[in-house]
Amino acid sequence: MTAALTARVERGIAWLELDLPAEPVNKITRGVREEFERVLDRLASDPDVRAGILISRKAGSFIAGADIDEFGGLASRGEAHALVRGGQVLVTRFATLGKPMVAAINGACLGGGLETALACTYRVAADDPKTLIGLPEVQLGILPAAGGCQRLPRLIGVRAALDLILAGKQVPARRAHRIGIVDELVHPAILDRVAEEAAARLASGWQPKRRRAGLGDFALDDNPLGRRLVFSSARKQVLKKTGGHYPAPLAALQAVEHGMKHGMEAGLDVEASLFAELAVSAVSRNLVRIFFATTALKKDPGLPGDTPAPHPVSNLGVVGVGFMGASIGAVAVMKAQADVRFKDRDVPSVGRGLAVAHRLLDEQRERHRLTRFEHRRLSRLLSGGVGWDGLGRADLVIEAVFEDLELKQQVFAELEAQVGERCVLASNTSTIPIAEIAQGLQRPDRMLGMHFFSPVEKMPLLEVIVSEGTAPWATVTAAAFGRKMGKTVIVVRDSPGFWVNRLLAPYLNEAGRLLQEGVAVETIDKTMVKFGFPVGPITLIDEVGLDVALNASKVLHAALGDRLQPTGGLQRMLEDGRFGRKNQRGFFRYEGGKRRDVDMAAYEIIGAHPDPQVPRDDVQPRLVYIMLNEAVRALHEGIVRNTRDGDIGAVFGIGFPAFRGGPLRYLDEVGLPQAVATLETLAQQYGDRFAPCERLVSMARTGEAFHPQ
Ligand code: 3HC
Ligand code: NAI
Repeated sequence: MTAALTARVERGIAWLELDLPAEPVNKITRGVREEFERVLDRLASDPDVRAGILISRKAGSFIAGADIDEFGGLASRGEAHALVRGGQVLVTRFATLGKPMVAAINGACLGGGLETALACTYRVAADDPKTLIGLPEVQLGILPAAGGCQRLPRLIGVRAALDLILAGKQVPARRAHRIGIVDELVHPAILDRVAEEAAARLASGWQPKRRRAGLGDFALDDNPLGRRLVFSSARKQVLKKTGGHYPAPLAALQAVEHGMKHGMEAGLDVEASLFAELAVSAVSRNLVRIFFATTALKKDPGLPGDTPAPHPVSNLGVVGVGFMGASIGAVAVMKAQADVRFKDRDVPSVGRGLAVAHRLLDEQRERHRLTRFEHRRLSRLLSGGVGWDGLGRADLVIEAVFEDLELKQQVFAELEAQVGERCVLASNTSTIPIAEIAQGLQRPDRMLGMHFFSPVEKMPLLEVIVSEGTAPWATVTAAAFGRKMGKTVIVVRDSPGFWVNRLLAPYLNEAGRLLQEGVAVETIDKTMVKFGFPVGPITLIDEVGLDVALNASKVLHAALGDRLQPTGGLQRMLEDGRFGRKNQRGFFRYEGGKRRDVDMAAYEIIGAHPDPQVPRDDVQPRLVYIMLNEAVRALHEGIVRNTRDGDIGAVFGIGFPAFRGGPLRYLDEVGLPQAVATLETLAQQYGDRFAPCERLVSMARTGEAFHPQ
């Protein structure tokens, strides 16, 4: 096998150049570790070598961490322990070589990659958008276990380190420099030279002076009482954020705390044993699967077989720049660097849309995610008007006017006359079948849906909806542009509610039914948060808007029948002018834009009051199983292409608990016969809407699984 590591010595400096053959990223595989060990042994004993430089020769990737593929093969804690100990030994070798080492970082420097860099004496990083630095391990359900929980807090302080480690954040080189992870930030073109100069200086005994972070931070970090305070408040925050479902951040916290109290060696022992426990846990296995599914979707064109190449989209039109349209435009500018033209029905609406989009760009600037120059350049890509001018050269137009079929048809009829032959037409409709919107178009083959979720700048999912008439080139173009906007894209069949709203509607309806039966808002919400959703269903209704939620339910009810019948409560709330967060009136009270407690008036309006006598044991199974049953039906109807897309859609679109792997993975874990039995019991007690669908029953009978091992 070709070597990943090349070593050469020039003027007393050893260059260790890493480029893992036939792999898109550098990662620390078992093989790479062995190569490093051999080379480091030579380096240590070679009297001509005074210092070393670790650098990547793979574009965009310094080291992306340990090889995540190897985690899947870990059969026991013992194996996991042995693997991580090997990693620790290697990283420690960098720190104890007896010769200064410089990490010259260009491209992703994550997990074990950063841990290796931290064990080096000095870090120089290229100021390039691809240079992302962080310890993302907790997102895989594990902890930084090659010394990351020890060296990072010692370098930048406990608080700053916990901020990165507990959330698994990846920060750009510029920020890493500001917080003291990186010693020098340089233009990529001079990385080698600066690293070489630093190595030579270090070899001659130079001691780099490190800037200490904010005095306040170190005042707290440096004394035991302050530190105890830092750890206990971090623990509280983690528990609040994870609801106790994600053990990895707590484990990381424990490893940092132990190491700071008892020293590096003891800290490394704790890292290794916690890693061994977590790496073979169901939570980590599910999170790793989600990582690989998301990665696979990054290069999935959206259609099987030989697909046409996507058309490049450099000009985007957005028609209807209200709540959704304005942020779709802003994200297209920020992430895809597209030239974006807004159109709305009148000047004030265009102005509002542009203001919202500019505000989103300004926020990026304020958070130092954009330089002043980039901010100015990107801001100039946004323009707007009430006429069609500027849309003639669009490669893609996304429509986001009111959810009204006739209006959308009329907009597309006018739009079609303005745009060129190769322009893709997309609707951001949340419920209307694409084929119906496309009716009357001269060229319905280039029409599809691009269903974004709100808030667009935060929600990671995009459903690209294709009807039977949609041409493959249009599908792959929309999917590729969605990915350029930073979204995880699933291609979904045109059908009422598509995938996400199809699963959401029965869930929200059932929450409405529970309310009507006298279960309190807090009980419903807390139950689902306990299951692992980020917010409960009633909060979700307030967030998405009562009008939007009710409209989706009505469409699904009309299309799919009585099992999707909404309760009358939402209608009555709307009649009372309650649209949710957007007008600060819903199931909750709002003050100054902040959500407060439950608005007791809501109970009056829906005509039901919390009754402590109503049993609560079935709240969770009713809400979960009604969604699972619908997911199986929709999967069987081919709404999503496969179980991977179905699970990812639910995790990223609805917030289905990631640690459970998605609804279909969860069904496998519960066991299909058990799921059928639960649904049958619920059906007997609460009605036919719970009757297990035929597909689920037949799969349970034949012993199939959604994700066969
Ligand atoms: N292990 C194995 N494969 C990896 C990997 C890793 N650490 N990082 C990336 N890959 C693979 C991806 O699966 C993908 O493979 P494929 O082409 O065969 O499907 C390929 O590299 C390219 O990845 P992306 O498509 O994601 O490329 P991007 O350029 O969009 O992103 C990245 C690159 C930022 C490095 C992103 O892949 C990423 O975030 N990777 C994961 C980083 C991570 O979590 N590291 C921690 C690992 S755990 C660890 O180090 C434990 C230690 O503390 C002991
Ligand atoms: P909105 O009411 O905030 O914005 C609609 C915009 O369309 C307004 O600016 C309005 O002036 C403009 N408009 C109306 N008629 C027009 C015309 N003839 N020509 C040009 N512009 C016109 O609505 P919102 O919430 O942004 O929804 C837009 C679309 O996105 C709807 O189809 C909705 O179902 C869908 N959607 C909404 C989501 C949400 O959370 N609000 C989520 C996903 C999709």
